[in-house]
Order: sequence, then C-alpha cells, then structure tokens
Amino acid sequence: MVIKEAQFLMSNTKVEACPKPDKPEYAFIGRSNVGKSSLINMLTNQKNLAKTSGQPGKTQLINHFLINNEWYLVDLPGYGYAKVSKRSREEWRRMINFYLQKRENLACMFVLIDSRHDPMAQDLEFIHQLGNMGVPFVIVFTKLDKQSSIKTDSTIAAWKRKLRETWEELPQMFRTSSEKQIGRDEILSFIEEVNAQ
Ligand code: GTP
Ligand code: MG
Repeated sequence: MVIKEAQFLMSNTKVEACPKPDKPEYAFIGRSNVGKSSLINMLTNQKNLAKTSGQPGKTQLINHFLINNEWYLVDLPGYGYAKVSKRSREEWRRMINFYLQKRENLACMFVLIDSRHDPMAQDLEFIHQLGNMGVPFVIVFTKLDKQSSIKTDSTIAAWKRKLRETWEELPQMFRTSSEKQIGRDEILSFIEEVNAQ
C-alpha cells in the first residue's frame, strides 16, 4: 500500500470523543518505550507525526491519525513503566479497557514487544485480555537493529512456546525496526488486506 496522506487528527482520554467510527482502525500498544510512536512514523514515512522520546511514558493519550482518508492509525500510551503511580496505572487500565470495549471500528490491535525481551507477565496478561475479549490482534517485534538476528529468533521462539501454552493457533507476528525501515511493507500489506475484508 502507498501512503499518500497521513495527518494527525486529535488526542483524547475519552473514547466517545474519538473520531466517528466510520473507518477501520489499527491501534498500537505495548510497554512504554517499546517503539509504538516510532513505528507509526516509520509506516507513514514521517519523522515527527507521532511524538517519540527516549523517556518512557511520552504518549499519554489516545492519538488518532487519518491515513489516505481511508483508515485510522492510533497511538496509545504504553504500560509497564515502573515510575508511574498506582493511580495513573489504574487510569490507563480504565481508558484502555473502555477503548477496547467501545471502539467498534477497531480492526486490529498491534501489540509491540521489544525483540530483546523474553515474555513478561504484563505483556502476556494484556495479550490474554485481548484474546478473552475477542479483539483481533497481531504481535510486532520491535528494534531488530539493536541485536543479532539469532538473538531475535530466540526471543520469538520463547514467545511462541509461551503462547502455545494457551493457544493452539498463534497470532500473526511481524519483525520490525523503525530505525532500519524493516517490516514496513509487511505491515502495510497486512492492513491493506484487512481493509479489503
Ligand atoms: P511511550 O509513548 O513512552 O509509551 O513510548 P513508545 O512506545 O511510543 O516509544 P517511542 O517510539 O517514543 O521510542 C522510544 C525510544 O526508542 C526512542 O528513543 C526511539 O528512538 C527508540 N526506538 C524506537 N524504535 C526503534 C528502533 O526500531 N530501533 C532503535 N534503535 N531505536 C528505536
Ligand atoms: Mg509513544
């Protein structure tokens, strides 16, 4: 798919205030600092469309981007950042749960995992929640440029073993590096396919 146009629309804490759910929507979630905002910039070929930062916790709101006037990309705040207060963590949970329950045009969640990290409880918990709620999702391994492909293979193998404990069928998985533009065509083709369904 060719990205002809990508524009920031709005930021919200409330699902009701999000753009009219009249177009398919793809949302990016995962630990703080995993590379959600960077991946959105890589996919849209824009440096600063989504705000990125070396400091975890940069994205705090539900951010909508309109792509080709046909579908939405959504940048969500991350989870798992140790310095966040209990109250903020609960607010995050409430906001995301509401988003997952109410956003009727959500076509697929992209769950981002740092390719250097073996399965962690919080990621697994979130993935199980998606599965239980029947939300379609895929897994995106990020920051491939940070280590050898042998190490990435080993992380992905560990993830597959872990997920097979619960599911017979594994979700689709993508390998990416926003730095090196890896995985862009694969993800855009996937979105194109889902849009066509
Ligand atoms: P929050 O909004 O805080 O939850 O973070 P995020 O998941 O949106 O991460 P963000 O895209 O802001 O990236 C976090 C840091 O990782 C930044 O310093 C990025 O430059 C870096 N980063 C993101 N993707 C990659 C990648 O593919 N390779 C490398 N080397 N660095 C990356
Ligand atoms: Mg972000």
